[in-house]
Amino acid sequence: MVIFRYLGIMWHASRQRSLLFFALLVLSSLTEGIGLVLLVPLLGTLQEVQSQPTGIVAYIIEGLTFVGVPITLTGLLGAFLALNLLRAVIVYFQTLVSERFRLEVLDGLRTRSFDAILESRWDWVVAQKRSDLSSLLITEVNRIGGALVQSVRLIISLISIGVYVVVAFTLSPVMAAIATVLGGLIFFLMRHQHQVAHRHGMLLSQANKNVQQTVEEGLSGLKLVKILRSENRSSAMMKAIRAKLRGRTLQFAKLNAAMGLIFQIAIALVLVAMLYTGIEVLELELPVLLILIVIFARLSPQIRLVQTQINGLQHTEAVMDNYHDLTREAGKVSEPVLQGNDCEPITLGKSIKLSNVSYSYKTRDARSLNDVSLEIPFRKTTAIMGTSGAGKSTLADILMGLLAPETGTVSVDGHALDAESRLNWRKSVAYMPQDVFLFHDTIRNNLLWADQSASEDDLEAALKKASAEFVYALPEGIETIVGDAGQRLSGGEKQRIALARALLQKPQLLILDEATSALDLANEARIREMIETLHAELTVVIIGHRLPALENADQLIVLESGTVKASGTWESVVQELPSD
Ligand SMILES: Nc1ncnc2c1ncn2[C@@H]1O[C@H](COP(=O)(O)OP(=O)(O)OP(=O)(O)O)[C@@H](O)[C@H]1O
Ligand SMILES: [Mg+2]
Repeated sequence: MVIFRYLGIMWHASRQRSLLFFALLVLSSLTEGIGLVLLVPLLGTLQEVQSQPTGIVAYIIEGLTFVGVPITLTGLLGAFLALNLLRAVIVYFQTLVSERFRLEVLDGLRTRSFDAILESRWDWVVAQKRSDLSSLLITEVNRIGGALVQSVRLIISLISIGVYVVVAFTLSPVMAAIATVLGGLIFFLMRHQHQVAHRHGMLLSQANKNVQQTVEEGLSGLKLVKILRSENRSSAMMKAIRAKLRGRTLQFAKLNAAMGLIFQIAIALVLVAMLYTGIEVLELELPVLLILIVIFARLSPQIRLVQTQINGLQHTEAVMDNYHDLTREAGKVSEPVLQGNDCEPITLGKSIKLSNVSYSYKTRDARSLNDVSLEIPFRKTTAIMGTSGAGKSTLADILMGLLAPETGTVSVDGHALDAESRLNWRKSVAYMPQDVFLFHDTIRNNLLWADQSASEDDLEAALKKASAEFVYALPEGIETIVGDAGQRLSGGEKQRIALARALLQKPQLLILDEATSALDLANEARIREMIETLHAELTVVIIGHRLPALENADQLIVLESGTVKASGTWESVVQELPSD
């Protein structure tokens, strides 16, 4: 049963809190049960002929007399009031405890899935659908949170049903037995509906995901859609996908309503049968009959609640499966980065060497790098050239230790990188891609990602080296917020800030992957100049299409279809190349 999985999550999160929560739950139900039974002698005082209390009523009267409560109307009312006050206080604490617990459990789930993705290997991340990950982290975790509330409510309902049934049994075993058997029968007959609900849950979950994906794509492709004047198409796509979601949601609502209908009818039949038996066959006393009716009246909405809760839970079981599968999958390919955050960066002294490195992406059969061997010498500038799709960016990812080669080795100063040292090496490399990423934050905070402890002077020096002094001329200077992914800045401005961030990292190796593509000639020249001045301090790899940008490199490597076509000094390679 799915409820046990949710209970398992809670139990796993904190045994102490789970126990506290259940203790409070049992206490509140117990006070309610005793309160109900108290009504029997209370109503009994109305009768002229006082009947001798039996069973549980007798015990409770004995207990009351023991603590000195007189068995009069006032005494009983006082006890009833005290009991209800006690219950109100218990319920108050129970609500607080369960809400705090739920939020903790939910945060735990969120953290677990986000950390699992953070720690997972890059090759796994690039093979995932982006919207699957975001819907896991946002929508699905929220739905699991909702289901946690439902399972808590379900338990509350189940416990109070239990208490009602026990009280009913002590008052009239025959009546209680009839009600239990008939109630159980109804529940059993509606069991099939729960499976239907589960299936609906999966469909609904899929529809939700599609909506999420369409929204995300619609937003990131908004500029394209506007340029293509395809607003109609985008709107129609959104409408269609929403219509599907609406249909599925409605179907689920219909299923629930139909179950409600059947249930109401069944309950009315049971009530009639019970009243008839109680009055005609068993000839029960009025107070007992009244309390049984009260119990039954309270019981039936609870049972209905249990039904809908179970339905809702079945509904989220698919979501939960998905959550666990994805988190587990991410966990299987994890790099233990969160524990060893204070790793020592590796210093470079001689060279980085690739020996017979091959790599292919999971979603593609052909090799993106094929038997690549090369050497990047210390404090020299190496240019990597090649046509689009030649494997340059893949090579960069391997060089910086983001991807592990499928075969072959990457070694730094003669030490081959393994899973662990690859993580340390990554810390020593700064990478500047063509489409740089900036956080929606101030320029200062974007820079501080590279080095938390950088001083004002460090920031200024890095910005200056990266030709990004324009930052200080902005109205809010270095405190300017760059917008979502830096969209309030021009491409070239973003690149220069990202370069400053890369320099602030004080890397052993700086990789520029077509990093100056968005710059005008003047700024590109300045950056080239900067690289020239860094020449003596830093090992640089420049990736590009355009020859002029690579002209001053000490070494030129030409990639073609994943293999090294030529390498050597600029002059020697250019002579070999066809002149185009
Ligand atoms: N995430 C990925 N999944 C599958 N295939 C990929 C992935 N990334 C790159 N490829 C493929 O690997 C090959 C090399 O790609 P890579 O990005 O390294 O080329 P590149 O030389 O950097 O090209 P460009 O100059 O266009 O940036 C290409 O055929 C590309 O289609
Ligand atoms: Mg590339």
